[in-house]
Amino acid sequence: MKILGINDSPRGSKSQTRMLVEAVLDGAKASGAEVELVDVCKLKIDYCNACDVCYAKGKCVHKDDFEGLYRKILECDGLVLGSPIYFRSVTAQLRH
Ligand SMILES: Cc1cc2nc3c(=O)[nH]c(=O)nc-3n(C[C@H](O)[C@H](O)[C@H](O)COP(=O)(O)O)c2cc1C
Repeated sequence: MKILGINDSPRGSKSQTRMLVEAVLDGAKASGAEVELVDVCKLKIDYCNACDVCYAKGKCVHKDDFEGLYRKILECDGLVLGSPIYFRSVTAQLRH
């Protein structure tokens, strides 16, 4: 079983969110799961430009790190999303 953790705090190793996601992944690992943690803020993910190509072709025009992350999301059996609250919502990095 593959469990993917995504941390979208930009605070790197100081991030409390990262620590919490790590704790969940540690628990999953102790139960025999294969785990991976991705810091989404370290990836280059371009903003949507509303070109609508994805509606027609099912693929984004941007050639960025999202493609690799999307593959990991599709391949995992469980997803742990960790986000600090910024202005009553998840961070912009996770939202876009
Ligand atoms: C720009 C900004 C906006 C924030 N907005 C909120 C908020 O609306 N509500 C809240 O409870 N905390 C808010 N916080 C506090 C963070 O959610 C909190 O510090 C969080 O623990 C940071 O997580 P991290 O250590 O993983 O970066 C905000 C922090 C920042 C930097």
